Amino acid sequence: MPLSHLDNTPPKFKPEKSPYNHNRFKWHIAKLTFWSFMFLGLILVFFIQSPSATSSSSSTSSDLTRRSLKTSSWGGPVWEKRVKSSARIRSRNGFSVLVTGAAGFVGTHVSVALKRRGDGVLGLDNFNDYYDPSLKRSRQALLERSGIFIVEGDINDDALLKKLFELIPFTHVMHLAAQAGVRYAMENPSSYVHSNIAGFVNLLEICKTANPQPAIVWASSSSVYGLNTKSPFSEKDRTDQPASLYAATKKAGEEIAHTYNHIYGLSLTGLRFFTVYGPWGRPDMAYFFFTRDILKGKAIPIFEAANHGTVARDFTYIDDIVKGCLGALDTAEKSTGSGGKKRGPAQLRVFNLGNTSPVPVSDLVGILERLLKVKARRMVTKLPRNGDVPFTHANISLARREFGYRPTTDLQTGLKKFVRWYVSYYGTGKKSDQ
Ligand SMILES: *[C@@H]1O[C@H](CO)[C@@H](O)[C@H](O)[C@H]1NC(C)=O
Repeated sequence: MPLSHLDNTPPKFKPEKSPYNHNRFKWHIAKLTFWSFMFLGLILVFFIQSPSATSSSSSTSSDLTRRSLKTSSWGGPVWEKRVKSSARIRSRNGFSVLVTGAAGFVGTHVSVALKRRGDGVLGLDNFNDYYDPSLKRSRQALLERSGIFIVEGDINDDALLKKLFELIPFTHVMHLAAQAGVRYAMENPSSYVHSNIAGFVNLLEICKTANPQPAIVWASSSSVYGLNTKSPFSEKDRTDQPASLYAATKKAGEEIAHTYNHIYGLSLTGLRFFTVYGPWGRPDMAYFFFTRDILKGKAIPIFEAANHGTVARDFTYIDDIVKGCLGALDTAEKSTGSGGKKRGPAQLRVFNLGNTSPVPVSDLVGILERLLKVKARRMVTKLPRNGDVPFTHANISLARREFGYRPTTDLQTGLKKFVRWYVSYYGTGKKSDQ
């Protein structure tokens, strides 16, 4: 009898005046009920913890686990139909592109641009809450109207990625999913390792095994130039002095890209974006929260470099970045490997995508004041030594030569478009808007 051993187990706690001591039958029923509930509970715990129920079970931080649990639902015939329909190519010689981070700022714009010209586009995004997820949901709604489906999942979920590559023979991957932000890296360092290193490696593992192997274009960052002082920044300049963990993980990504290109013949192109801004942008970036805080009448911190030096950024408008991304995709050669094995040398590239005209942050604020017709309350503060660099300036002659990259939007024009979007999306906060 399978439960016989239970009969012989003396109760651990023997209450002095338990009524069960006088009724062996009732005692058995109670024990049976107790162990049945324990058993059911264990089964439940097993299912909640199993990898099929969570998209990424390996993360230890509660933050990451919470994020993963939110992004667990995929699979089934309806889901597969949506995936296939979104990825369907609608033009001759069109690509089928997996866009990771599709609900992100750059991801949304690139996805729309690809779809518009007839490429098949499938999005992937984990909708994490690094910044207000409702903005990501709005971008998702925008993409849905263009016929683009975003799969909800994490790039660390290899079962999901395998499934996607089984369903769609992607010709290209536009890898934009990342943990962004320079100062947040001190608060949540593991999130940078999770997305920018572990997630990238997982994606490359899937890509190298895929048949055919896709060509990969991915977002590196101008922050890899770190403490480099030579200006403008050229791709050949040193990038071994990162000033933040964010920069270090992006630099690591470039080295990892080299490895996968070398061992498996994956075609890899890294794009070093310079301070991208525009409509649907990221709320954690200065131009965005300056706009919000100026409208609210809240003081904004304006950083000053050592010896009252100006802090300047090579602000690059989103449409120019999109042109650069498409140019990189269009000139990407095919990967050369198959069956996870290299068959010959493959393309490995890195490009700056900037605007080539650094603007002091105080000028940025001046433009915003004129556009918003509100005077900013400036609070001049020393640039903290926790990630931000005083100056960025891109040399873009390489991208110009390879795919005719030529940014055309100056900061004034681009911010006008941003502010117009911002006000239509959030309102000005003035009474007349409410
Ligand atoms: C820009 O980069 C190119 C190489 O891509 C280099 O030949 C050129 O000298 C650089 N220009 C400046 C001003 O550093």
